[in-house]
Amino acid sequence: MRRTNVAKEIAAVLRECHVSTEPRSFWLAGRPATGSGSFPVVNPYTGETIAEVSIPTDAQVEEAVAAAHSAVATAGALPAHARAAALDHVARRLGERSEEIAALITAENGKPVKWAKAEVGRAVSVFRWAAEETRRFGGELQRLDTDAAATGRAAIVRRFAKGAVLGISPFNFPLNLAAHKVAPAIAVGAPILLKPAPATPLSGLLIGELLAETDLPAGSWSILPVPNERMAALNEDPRLPVISFTGSTVVGELIQGQAPHKHVTLELGGNAAAVVLADYSSEADLDWAANRIATFSNYQAGQSCISVQRVIADAAVYDRLVGKIVEAVGRQGVGDPTDPGTDVGPLVSEAAAERVEQWVDEAVAAGATLLAGGKREGASYAPTVLADVPADAKVVREEVFGPVLVLQRVEGTDEAFKLVNDSQFGLQAGVFTHDIQAAFRAHRELEVGGVIVGDVPSFRADQMPYGGTKNSGVGREGVKYAMADYTYERVLVLTGIDL
Ligand code: SIN
Repeated sequence: MRRTNVAKEIAAVLRECHVSTEPRSFWLAGRPATGSGSFPVVNPYTGETIAEVSIPTDAQVEEAVAAAHSAVATAGALPAHARAAALDHVARRLGERSEEIAALITAENGKPVKWAKAEVGRAVSVFRWAAEETRRFGGELQRLDTDAAATGRAAIVRRFAKGAVLGISPFNFPLNLAAHKVAPAIAVGAPILLKPAPATPLSGLLIGELLAETDLPAGSWSILPVPNERMAALNEDPRLPVISFTGSTVVGELIQGQAPHKHVTLELGGNAAAVVLADYSSEADLDWAANRIATFSNYQAGQSCISVQRVIADAAVYDRLVGKIVEAVGRQGVGDPTDPGTDVGPLVSEAAAERVEQWVDEAVAAGATLLAGGKREGASYAPTVLADVPADAKVVREEVFGPVLVLQRVEGTDEAFKLVNDSQFGLQAGVFTHDIQAAFRAHRELEVGGVIVGDVPSFRADQMPYGGTKNSGVGREGVKYAMADYTYERVLVLTGIDL
């Protein structure tokens, strides 16, 4: 019965997409517009084109940038209640339309509907948190009369938007990672120009539908599906002094090179590790760890920067853990992403699955043992577990971004933590332990943006600071941390004050 409902929602979404042969409009300075030419959005599971999306012309992109630039003062002057009301409105509407939006995410991204629903819930939370942070976004009073020379002086420190934000969002969470760009910008009163991923633009455009229902100044937001090859001009444009990008390390570095004088936040790749220490050894402990690892190496077909890619387990628990992981991976329901029981759907494209297949084949040819999976069908790749993998294999060193798990046996905590840090990336790490000292040691020593104790690295609450070290990026998201990133402190010194 539940499956029938999801199927109906998806059919309705697809019908809607096909209602007109006209390409879908984008959002230019708060109003719908079409440009010149279009590109298709393809359902990765069925291979069907579900929509054509209109491409903005250079002149329209210029209009959006000019509008954002000239809206800086108006958007910055909006009272907190107006910004919070717009954010609350989007949160409420996302919640009201959650079934339909989840179906849209599944159709354009191939993500199983249960994960798509979780994503919508998270986006609701992002907009709700942004509304709450808007109300708290005050500033501080600093006394300056701590030295005789500044007697009678006090400072008020407040944060002001650096200017309009260029948000570039990825395909893997097409709604929620777009929300992480848009909501903090509205919260601080910064105009935003969002460029959604070409594979999954529909969820970003849907945020535009909801913003258009608010009273935000029209010029203060645009959602433009600009082709990647035309992005250099936007990245370089000084009227967009802040860039917030989520995507691959290669593209992140390219953007940084194009915009050396801008404030650039980069949320890039990872090859996240889950460490299982020797004390985490009861049947219940290992069942929990194995189930969480199996689920979160495969959720969204491994297409999350914090999906579990490496399991680093102490020799004391390794053999028992491996058996449980292989069993748990075998229980992952693979197949049609519209089926509410499906855990693992396709990757975003056949080309993405082919790359994963090639990396796994290379590892096996170099001596790795295949304990599960290792097969591709179209854009789908079977949940895969590898052991005895050479340390220089791509599946160890690079970001797989697919449903592939590499098991590594270590002797003790020193070796475990050393191996976590033996990576070009540093986004999040999970540490399964009951030992509070080990937890604090992990926090001190692991070179990552977040350590999750008692669970996988894939845990993320949207208000947490989120971001990496090394090639995983610079800056932080998580609503109030992105708000800090989009703004700078400006101090007001008052003279002749009796505090
Ligand atoms: C990411 O892939 O970086 C985002 C992960 C998440 O938001 O859960």
